[in-house]
Amino acid sequence: MTDRRTILQLLAVSSLAAVPAVGATLKPSNDPAAAWRNPGAGQKDPRLFSLAHAILAPNPHNRQPWLVSLEGDDTIILYFDTTRRLPATDPYDRQLAIGCGAFLEILSIAAAEVGYDAQISLFPLGEPQPVLNDTPIARVRFMKGGAKDPFFSFITLRRSNKEAYNAGKPVSAQTLENLLRVETMEGLTFSGALSGNPQCESLRQLSIQAYRREFETPVALKESIDLMRIGKAEIAKHRDGIDLDFPGIGAMQAMGMITREKMMTPGTTAYQQGLEQYDPLAKSAAAYVWIISDSKDRYAELAAGRAYARLNLRATSLGIAMHPMSQALQEYAEMATIKAEAERVVGMAPDKCLQMLARIGYGGKVPPSPRRGLTEHLRT
Ligand SMILES: Cc1cc2nc3c(=O)[nH]c(=O)nc-3n(C[C@H](O)[C@H](O)[C@H](O)COP(=O)(O)O)c2cc1C
Repeated sequence: MTDRRTILQLLAVSSLAAVPAVGATLKPSNDPAAAWRNPGAGQKDPRLFSLAHAILAPNPHNRQPWLVSLEGDDTIILYFDTTRRLPATDPYDRQLAIGCGAFLEILSIAAAEVGYDAQISLFPLGEPQPVLNDTPIARVRFMKGGAKDPFFSFITLRRSNKEAYNAGKPVSAQTLENLLRVETMEGLTFSGALSGNPQCESLRQLSIQAYRREFETPVALKESIDLMRIGKAEIAKHRDGIDLDFPGIGAMQAMGMITREKMMTPGTTAYQQGLEQYDPLAKSAAAYVWIISDSKDRYAELAAGRAYARLNLRATSLGIAMHPMSQALQEYAEMATIKAEAERVVGMAPDKCLQMLARIGYGGKVPPSPRRGLTEHLRT
């Protein structure tokens, strides 16, 4: 019989570990890891080179909500892909906008690497509210210039590491300080609390509670389950969402042990394991870090996304694993009391916005998450 804890950990780890490294059995176009290997290699157009990197940005539920059109010979227009919303857990597209900010930051770092300054004008047709729409998120002009950014070499190494971390290896106060020393970004505050600090303990408890609350809210749970890609074939087909793959998953599926219906049904083992899956993750956090913005508008969300991408890249450069735990920040009725408590714990003033919360620690090496590939993002 499969060990319960093992399944729990396997379910917790969104992994491509079992996907053949070079897609030996997959058609190249369906290889979910292809985008991570030499992105933009041989590409003469700096925009396409930069875009090949930008699609590696962190983004909620790996929705990859980016559409791009090329204008003239030096401009890109970035649009939000309105087919990729998360209406239950991100009703105002705040987190998806953060994912667009992360995309722009990585685009800009990659442009500088090949000698271009990506000049970004946000919302050229105005700020979309209360949800994102199909008006442009940004117009980006590539002008000769730009200073190389040392984070470039970490773009393909960056991960959201969703495994349990090494509980016996604390993050030092000095390392946390180095991590949070992100270049000054106006309107944003970066903070953190190390294990042992009561703030960290409260955030551990809150992130477990928030995850369980989300899990017990059927419409929110269904949103995640619908985005689950179970086993190699589904992962290769979609190359997005929450990928679930580990040795033996095919057999478990064939025996009916892992089905979407069971995952949604209280009382089943699959449901119970899903419900408990954040517990060991939160408990192994060596620290929590968070980003608060002074304002609550779309500009703040994009700035938070740019800042989060840099934070994740800096963590990568320091050998620190990072995992956003966003449930307690989400804006739906069932989460309201937990969200208020999270904001209280981090000491947030009411007119500000807690944009990102992540656990950090020392973790093992994890494979990259799937990407659909650049051609899927190009608007013709
Ligand atoms: C705004 C935002 C919120 C996120 N929230 C969560 C979360 O609550 N739980 C989680 O496991 N991952 C979360 N992630 C990480 C994404 O799942 C991850 O970026 C995506 O699957 C792609 O994987 P990668 O970052 O390893 O490339 C979040 C990422 C962003 C940008």
